[in-house]
Amino acid sequence: MTSHSHTMRPRAAHSGSALKGAMTVPGDKSISHRAMMFGAMAMGRTTVSGLLEGEDVLATGRAMQALGASVEKTGETWTIDGLGVGGFLEPTDDLDFGNAGTGVRLTMGLVGAYRFVTRFVGDASLSARPMGRVLDPLRAIGVEVVEHHDNRLPVALRGPRTPLPVDYRVPMASAQVKSCVLLAGLVIPGETRVVEPIMTRDHTEKMLAGFGADISVGTDEAGVRTIRVKGLPDLRGQDIVVPGDPSSAGFPLVAGLIVPGSDITITNVLMNPTRTGLIETLIEMGGDITLENRRTSGGEDIADLRVRHSRLRGVIVPPERAPSMIDEYPVLAVAAAYAQGRTEMAGIEELRVKESDRLAAVARGLEANGVVCEEGTDFLIVEGTGGVRGGGTVKTHLDHRIAMSFLVMGLAADRPVTVDDDTMIATSFPSFAADFTRLGASFSAPGDAQ
Ligand code: S3P
Repeated sequence: MTSHSHTMRPRAAHSGSALKGAMTVPGDKSISHRAMMFGAMAMGRTTVSGLLEGEDVLATGRAMQALGASVEKTGETWTIDGLGVGGFLEPTDDLDFGNAGTGVRLTMGLVGAYRFVTRFVGDASLSARPMGRVLDPLRAIGVEVVEHHDNRLPVALRGPRTPLPVDYRVPMASAQVKSCVLLAGLVIPGETRVVEPIMTRDHTEKMLAGFGADISVGTDEAGVRTIRVKGLPDLRGQDIVVPGDPSSAGFPLVAGLIVPGSDITITNVLMNPTRTGLIETLIEMGGDITLENRRTSGGEDIADLRVRHSRLRGVIVPPERAPSMIDEYPVLAVAAAYAQGRTEMAGIEELRVKESDRLAAVARGLEANGVVCEEGTDFLIVEGTGGVRGGGTVKTHLDHRIAMSFLVMGLAADRPVTVDDDTMIATSFPSFAADFTRLGASFSAPGDAQ
């Protein structure tokens, strides 16, 4: 199918000293992908500082180059010279998005309605993920799906002679689907409408408005959002400063809570309310997390997070919180294992279609390390006993967040916790091991002398 080959690299995490000091986390992944795409689509120059230089975002950058934009790094700043709405060129090769769902699904919206063929490929994980959720609205626009494999990659798209604006109700809580439709709407004359019954991260709406799109959002009494975007706008390059990724911050947050004696400050973290469900939940569990130095930058709330070792208790996480912490359930499950009592997480069926089936991957990882849990079709229950035996090896299934979550678990377990492969961590948090080591964490490659 694709040319991706992959050498696994196991890694073990050990308990040891307290974690102390300050760290920054890499730039937000959602904003970084969008900065590349919107910069490529806008007329003129976009600069981006604080970009996440993870594999996922770099793949999106290469795709934008393949569509004719210029993407370059000078010093610490990325520069994107865009082509204007309607200006993308037919790529001469497949667009390879590696592991990145956001990259591929948003780019399908970005170029799907263009009158040329674009072929999208990815790694084994991405090739197993459902693309029907974006292909369905694209088909309604008139886009021809020239190739697909049971609505999975490789997918090839060809835009229609006359694309039609749609009025699309997003059937699952997905910012990627919402964004795909809105981006397609930018090259379609007339008004595209997206109805979002459950609010998901709003980076596309906010950033498109910043680039000059004619976009408006209405919310009814029931909280249902209707987003309207007018096609063929003049978008202008912007200067973007990307704040730290709250999803990446979840790893040091939970590590600080579970490792005795820890006291860590994570600086410059995005606090957009559609992204803060994990922090809310950890505070409910009794976590000592304080928000310091709160400020706004580029229309987003930012804060430094100070976290200290805490006695946690189990909680019920309401299903309506899921969209604001959808990528954080694996690391929350680790916190829950160290809590006293039962933690129930409901309404999390979307976890099954992430980089791996995260519900199953988390449950197997917990079990391998002596944690009692119950996996339902759309829920997970973790029985916390205040500590974790460890000693197990966790299958990561090409999933960066499974790898990082269980390495965090090992930092406080009685015995080391091993993950079968840590290479995928580079997709979203390339400095993970170095940053944690600086705080005092201890990792080894299995087989190393300890
Ligand atoms: C993202 C949306 C979420 C999230 C992903 C990033 C985005 O996916 O899991 O990591 O940037 O729009 P879904 O929209 O599929 O829930």
